[in-house]
Amino acid sequence: MLDQLSKLWNTAFGSLPPEVIVRAPGRVNIIGEHTDYNEGWVMPGAMSRSLYILVSKAQLPNPLRRGSSSPESISPPFPPKGGKSSHHWIAADLNEELQFDHLENIPLTQSIWAKYILGALHVYENDLGPLHIMIGGDLPIGAGVSSSSSLVGGLLLALQRLTGDQKTKQELAQLSSRVEREIIGLQGGIMDQYAIMLSEAEKVMMLDCRKKTFEFISASIPGTQWVLLNTKVKHQLIDSDYNQRAAQCKQAVEIIQKQFSGVKSLRDADEDMLLKSNLPEVLYRRSHFVIEENRRVHEMKAALENKDAIKAGHLLQASHYGLQYHYEVSCDELNHLANLANQTDGVYGGRMMGGGFGGCVICLVADEAMVAFEKKAMDSYQKQFGFEPEVIHFSLSRGAEVIGP
Ligand code: GLA
Repeated sequence: MLDQLSKLWNTAFGSLPPEVIVRAPGRVNIIGEHTDYNEGWVMPGAMSRSLYILVSKAQLPNPLRRGSSSPESISPPFPPKGGKSSHHWIAADLNEELQFDHLENIPLTQSIWAKYILGALHVYENDLGPLHIMIGGDLPIGAGVSSSSSLVGGLLLALQRLTGDQKTKQELAQLSSRVEREIIGLQGGIMDQYAIMLSEAEKVMMLDCRKKTFEFISASIPGTQWVLLNTKVKHQLIDSDYNQRAAQCKQAVEIIQKQFSGVKSLRDADEDMLLKSNLPEVLYRRSHFVIEENRRVHEMKAALENKDAIKAGHLLQASHYGLQYHYEVSCDELNHLANLANQTDGVYGGRMMGGGFGGCVICLVADEAMVAFEKKAMDSYQKQFGFEPEVIHFSLSRGAEVIGP
């Protein structure tokens, strides 16, 4: 993977290797969905599938490769900019590239990835001038494994290396989350950014999103495996639906506060408070889900520590039920796969993972049931939707790291 990117780099930017190469993983989440922006608890980890981000300062005239053997996969070739150094960003997996002199001139019409890069440069504030950036890897995009936070977090780490700044990984995670909120306009929490920057291999992180403290726990239960089933769909309006949920939680808190002034976020609320606050029905369901999901994170911690696959499976099932009916962030494709998981012998449980409206289902499966379950999921999903889901096996990896040159 990296070899291929290095070759592309040579073709695009000449024989000087990148000044820094970062590996930034994707994010999985065992449980604790839509709890992070309610200052609750989550249990994410970094997955082995990653983005690679290669970066150099573009101090020299860009030795562009017009007429040279430019790779088929990258098009169209851009003409040299008259000897001036310029920004030149390439998203290898998407066959897209952008080249421009100044950040203000960046054509952002379709390239959401470029908007994230721009966001990272904006919040980092230490201007390095024009940059050559190449991104690529084996992280699925739009699959709910937070490839966007992986890109932003990885790039911030690369910028830190290039500038010699001494920010901690926690500071970089906070900067990364500002990109989502301030530049992209998604009122997200801190789960993805913390997991991507700070995770440890073979562990998940139990993160307290208010205190911003975390501990690592093992998610492995002997005789079982975690697996993702990617629906390969991403429904429209994800951002506005997501922001609407965040706004509803805020509204609920405002109502609860009238009687219970100590409640600063849904983390502080309980069922009794919800009932006494006479919340409108929708706000009641949203808040109730968050309270239960926070509780499930703690119960999952105990289940993992006790290596109790049955309990862990029940928690996954209950989480999916709440996400589907009470928080209403699921979709037909996710429900199909989660329901299949929850009805298949040897599968302890499954639930949609991440923001929702598409992306992946995460399942806990007995080793001996895995092959049959995969086949069943493929066949039944194909029959229902006309295409196959992607099965993603993963291991839990370290957070973003500088790996070269
Ligand atoms: C997205 C957001 C996260 C979190 C999840 C839902 O991945 O980026 O902050 O809110 O959705 O749990």
